[in-house]
Amino acid sequence: MSESEREFPPGFLWGAATAAHQIEGSPLADGAGPSIWTRFAHTPGMMHNGDTGDVACDHYRRWKDDVALMRELGLQAYRFSVSWSRILPAGTGAVNQKGLDFYSRLVDELLANDIEPLLTLYHWDLPAALDDRGGWLNRDSADWFAEYASVLYRALDGRVRKWVTLNEPWVITDGGYLHGALAPGHRSRYEAPIASHNLMRAHGAAVKAYRELGEHEIGLVVNIEPKHPATDSAEDAAAVRRAHAYMNEQYLHPALLGHYPAELKEIFGDAWPDWPAEDFELIKQKLDFVGINYYTRCVSKAAESYPLNTGVVRQPMGTYTETGWEVFPQGLTELLLWFKQTYGDLPVYITENGAAFFDPPTADTDPATGQRRVRDPLRTDYLRKHIGAIHDAIQAGVDVRGYMLWSLMDNLEWSLGYSKRFGMVHVNYTTQERTPKDSARWYSQVIASNGRSLTDPLPY
Ligand code: BGC
Repeated sequence: MSESEREFPPGFLWGAATAAHQIEGSPLADGAGPSIWTRFAHTPGMMHNGDTGDVACDHYRRWKDDVALMRELGLQAYRFSVSWSRILPAGTGAVNQKGLDFYSRLVDELLANDIEPLLTLYHWDLPAALDDRGGWLNRDSADWFAEYASVLYRALDGRVRKWVTLNEPWVITDGGYLHGALAPGHRSRYEAPIASHNLMRAHGAAVKAYRELGEHEIGLVVNIEPKHPATDSAEDAAAVRRAHAYMNEQYLHPALLGHYPAELKEIFGDAWPDWPAEDFELIKQKLDFVGINYYTRCVSKAAESYPLNTGVVRQPMGTYTETGWEVFPQGLTELLLWFKQTYGDLPVYITENGAAFFDPPTADTDPATGQRRVRDPLRTDYLRKHIGAIHDAIQAGVDVRGYMLWSLMDNLEWSLGYSKRFGMVHVNYTTQERTPKDSARWYSQVIASNGRSLTDPLPY
């Protein structure tokens, strides 16, 4: 492939992503209220190694240096999330001006450095006070979320032009309400559909409020992955249909088509309610874009499991990341083509993509250049293949507008604590020193050349 064949369309937005609870630290500073993640992390046995987000990457205090680092790396965009309980410590009602000021300063600093902010309203850290009122199981949560979102629209819409309502409703409910590995740690087949539905109502209510107050773009971020059958049996084909409906269609269908896929009733049985028809009018709002988070594919088979009755088949010839996810870049092209075919020509951003691999534990100094470096060839290879797969989808007609690498820096990988490093920038959690890994230097070149350097030989 010649150089120019990997060039991306003009205006393609290159950036990186983080989330508030994973990087900020100081969760209760300046009048903030606790979130379900502050509580969960302080509950014995919930977090790997007893880790918490109390310090994390200390971004709450180091934000200015972090923006300087983004600038140094040449990022054109930065996707971050806002902690709801910094803005509204009790979830609704009184606004905490100091919390708002933090994000306002961050946005100003980004703009002063020519970095476009992409703001996610909800990346999993529900105010604990709202969890006490039933959290996402309470139908009022749609109004709570619209109230919180409106505070931010009023404060920031002149400066933030790209808004995301929810990050990954599937993970919020599968991890938080069905299997319990994530906050708030519930395990209920009866609760999961209700939490999902209320999240989608909240999404709809926030988009509706945006149309009254905002003037730019708003979208939803989902994590999706191709589901492939382990064999050509009818049972495995049915397992794939269930897995696909559960993860890939459960949120996109109501948001974009106004109904749920039929398989959800089969999966949840008597736990699947009859939803009021008017809810779908609220949920299905016009969106300006959809954000897709892509990490892997899944090979599925029919198996006894709760409640999906599907199992995952590990590929003996596959390459796996440190979180046990198969490296499968062509799945991203496949998924983008499926998205276009199913939902039409809506603009898409890849809002997360990246990998945890074992990195050398500390940065060292390269004697040749004197530069501190962390060698992470597997990550660079992963990124190169996935960015190439996006280019393939664009060539095939999918309207992909940008790429946000997960993650800008190593951070708190939720209940896995600090044990998994997804960053292109290494963080030493003792000193808080940041060191761009080799993958970050490589990504800078990709950005600077708008993708042309993807075909350069790797420096290993
Ligand atoms: C989430 C991130 C998470 C990443 C890697 C996504 O599901 O949005 O918060 O760190 O995947 O697991």
